[in-house]
Amino acid sequence: MRRINEKFGMRNLRGFLKGLNKIIKFQIQRLPNRGKMVKICCIGAGYVGGPTMAVIALKCPKIEVAVVDISVPRINAWNSDQLPIYEPGLDEVVKQCRGKNLFFSTEVEKHVAEADIVFVSVNTPTKTRGLGAGKAADLTYWESAARMIADVSKSDKIVVEKSTVPVKTAEAIEKILTHNSKGINFQILSNPEFLAEGTAIKDLFKPDRVLIGGRETPEGLKAVKALKDVYAHWVPEENILTTNLWSAELSKLAANAFLAQRISSVNAMSALCEATGADVSQVSYAVGTDSRIGPKFLNASVGFGGSCFQKDILNLVYICECNGLPEVAEYWKQVIKINDYQKTRFVNRVVASMFNTVANKKVAILGFAFKKDTGDTRETPAIDVCKGLLGDKARLSIYDPQVTEDQIQRDLTMNKFDWDHPLHLQPMSPTTVKQVSVVWDAYEATKDAHAVCILTEWDEFKTLDFQRIYDNMQKPAFFFDGRNIINVNKLREIGFIVYSIGKPLDAWLKDMPAVA
Ligand code: NAI
Repeated sequence: MRRINEKFGMRNLRGFLKGLNKIIKFQIQRLPNRGKMVKICCIGAGYVGGPTMAVIALKCPKIEVAVVDISVPRINAWNSDQLPIYEPGLDEVVKQCRGKNLFFSTEVEKHVAEADIVFVSVNTPTKTRGLGAGKAADLTYWESAARMIADVSKSDKIVVEKSTVPVKTAEAIEKILTHNSKGINFQILSNPEFLAEGTAIKDLFKPDRVLIGGRETPEGLKAVKALKDVYAHWVPEENILTTNLWSAELSKLAANAFLAQRISSVNAMSALCEATGADVSQVSYAVGTDSRIGPKFLNASVGFGGSCFQKDILNLVYICECNGLPEVAEYWKQVIKINDYQKTRFVNRVVASMFNTVANKKVAILGFAFKKDTGDTRETPAIDVCKGLLGDKARLSIYDPQVTEDQIQRDLTMNKFDWDHPLHLQPMSPTTVKQVSVVWDAYEATKDAHAVCILTEWDEFKTLDFQRIYDNMQKPAFFFDGRNIINVNKLREIGFIVYSIGKPLDAWLKDMPAVA
């Protein structure tokens, strides 16, 4: 009898489980996108779009990611073995996903039409003409991307602002989309990117935070949740912050302004150190050990560069001015002024130390990228330093492990801000700078030179054979370290006259004016 009961109980349990299974299956079928792979499309295959989407594809194998761009050479490069940007670890990530769930294409409209989520990561240059010239962001590329999305969409979409944009851009984009929507529902999110070039893959794998801003409506919150779910594949929930649209947009500008401000602060200190005999490395170490301040971004240098810092601060300044806050605008402007001052100061040091003229003297430039581990030269301080030395008629021999001759020539002949347009739309000067040669070896660059300037902190420059360099240079041999990476005493022992930013000066340099 007991056995019969047990058998009967088992049968009931089986029946119950079968029923439960059916209900679960039915519920799952009702979920959106059931049976359909979520599709992401990113407009703009640049320094942000490429690496970010590659990491999303790697971490979310069930999501199909298409990265699209109007630049054919750029897309061809993403589909080749020679990726268009150098970033440690990027090659491996791309190789693992490309052709599986990661695609690079110039078929912009097709992929946008098919996508559920569209990221927009196009250029946002500084305006060079018209209202706000020299400060405001030029949203031409953003607006044309938004109009195209509205044009080709046949299904509801989440549109994600990934480019750094002025506050309230999302609202403007929302207007463009909804006024052209043909009944399609667009939700706009702001998801600014905080990656740093040179460590982009590391930053994307383990971001300090992911920030998602959206409308605080039921549809807005649903869209925020959908994007949060993408990042939740690998980012801990507590690191995914959600805010309203404008806080997200402003946070990105504020974060870059704060970072740049730290560099300008320590660079301002470096000038005072040189005047007083203090050592800026010791000062910044002492300051940085205060746990309220922290040690990062406190290295004195020839100045900050990169595509974002200056542009984002100018943008911030413009927004402050437009909102009737001239004092706040002035405060942030000073960060850029100190950066310019630091570059001018460096050039003046070089010229003043070398008997007030560098005319026809060979000066070796080691490093052209705006920082190590990237080939990016946008707003690199090397451009202004080289132009300053060329203005004094120097002959430059430049070596950078990642930057091509073509890029260096472009940078030295292009107008300010022109670099931030898609490659095929950049106005090009027909001439090259004849006093500049680009070589592929630091020893070649320094041979017969009167002076060496380190402008990028590449690790390989720390271990150069400085004795060999000294032996092959003109005398007196000058060494100007714009990144504080060499051992000043060791070089002085060899015989160099050494200047290292913010360090106690050689007797030779003491009476030389560093400011024009
Ligand atoms: P990028 O210049 O490397 O890439 C932008 C790409 O967009 C270009 O390849 C261009 O051809 C493409 N593009 C422009 N208009 C287009 C259109 N209508 N359709 C299709 N493609 C189009 O720029 P990057 O560095 O990737 O920056 C993009 C945005 O992200 C900018 O707003 C920048 O300020 C921001 N940002 C950049 C960071 C960086 O480290 N580079 C970090 C965080 C944000």
